Amino acid sequence: MVGGQPLNGEVKISGAKNSALAILAAAILLPGKTVIRNTPNLLDVKTMLRVLRALGLRAEYSASQPNTVEIWNEDVRHVAPYELVTKMRASFFIIGPILARKGLAKVPLPGGCAIGSRPVNLHLKGLEALGARVEMEHGFVIVSARKLIGTKVYIDFPSVGATETVMMAATLAEGETIIENAAREPEVSDLAGFLNRAGAKITGAGTEEVHIQGVRSLNPVEYRIIPDRIEAGTFMVVAAATGGNLLLKNIIPDHLEATIVKLKEAGLLIDIGSDWLTISVRNGIKATDVKTLPYPGFPTDMQQQFCALLALAQGTSVVTETVFENRFIFVNELKRMGADIKLEGQSAIITGVPFLSSAPVKVSDLRAGAALIIAGLAAKGETQIEDRDHHVERGYENLQKKLMALGAEIKIV
Ligand code: UD1
Repeated sequence: MVGGQPLNGEVKISGAKNSALAILAAAILLPGKTVIRNTPNLLDVKTMLRVLRALGLRAEYSASQPNTVEIWNEDVRHVAPYELVTKMRASFFIIGPILARKGLAKVPLPGGCAIGSRPVNLHLKGLEALGARVEMEHGFVIVSARKLIGTKVYIDFPSVGATETVMMAATLAEGETIIENAAREPEVSDLAGFLNRAGAKITGAGTEEVHIQGVRSLNPVEYRIIPDRIEAGTFMVVAAATGGNLLLKNIIPDHLEATIVKLKEAGLLIDIGSDWLTISVRNGIKATDVKTLPYPGFPTDMQQQFCALLALAQGTSVVTETVFENRFIFVNELKRMGADIKLEGQSAIITGVPFLSSAPVKVSDLRAGAALIIAGLAAKGETQIEDRDHHVERGYENLQKKLMALGAEIKIV
């Protein structure tokens, strides 16, 4: 790509990847035909559809309606395939729904990834609390229960995935489950919205205490997924780093609160409407400190894009990562483009430079890819970004097309 051009224009934000992945897993709980709208068309969602098909469901993008997934669910197999689950961590989210429906699930233990070891102990602890027996055998987790029984589940760290696993399993449990220290991410509330539409009785999603009154069965539904707050945040940083002026449409501004606050601190001009915002640069980028936290704190999924932006700020910023253990490896690639970044424990100390220069760089994970694209769009000259594992396409719908519509020069080789 050739950088150095301000990107201007309007961009429509797609549906939330992380909602889609959880809701597709939850569709295992719903017999009959389920329709999910505003589903982003990206590799991770395609992988989840393959997982569902491997479990015996029919699951595909509608041929006639864009961004719509249709699922026909008769019976569900209880064994999930190794190649697919180890390919994408979020496919582990099927464990709760399969257990709730079949009383038995056998799912491969997902591996680590470039941002850390990412254990699933909290998911399993939650299922155990509901009465499941958990065993490990040849790299598979086997969970079984004659019936799940509602109880209090305290989640040690407000893990998004663990909260969702317990929520999905508890919808069909006997009696009431109370999740304490639940994750408050909007995607958790979206999952609850989907399940409630299907007849579940969940209250308190989006707060740290979620109540789930078990029901006997769920009904098929039509549901529309919320907009992707991380895609929106990424485009806001694109505008900031290139000195451009963007209108973002199809967003929920409330979900972007922490990102908006930090970008305002960095000197951006942001005008917010009901489901849109505009963003533009006034007098360059100011240094600002950022610390990632569970929602409503600053999202770890925006940390890497911010590092790319703050590499161009006036002054020194400290970015601290508290959610994942290893989310700074990509910093070495940014340094190859001239960024001045020192790592100290869980923090990156970033001293802004007047400009980044183009260089060949490699993508280690999804948001690292976004950060390097942002750096490449801001840098002088032609940057080559190598993404052999298609990390960016895993999590962004049509990113290249959307950026080109705003004036970016990008070629996929
Ligand atoms: C979800 C998001 C991901 C986001 C993350 C944090 C999806 C598909 N992905 O991932 O984009 O970056 O939330 O906002 O929704 N942990 C444990 N044991 C567990 C589970 C988690 O120790 O059983 C730790 C993790 O290693 C990590 C932290 O808890 O350090 C947060 O992870 P979690 O919130 O579970 O992230 P995911 O659900 O995997």
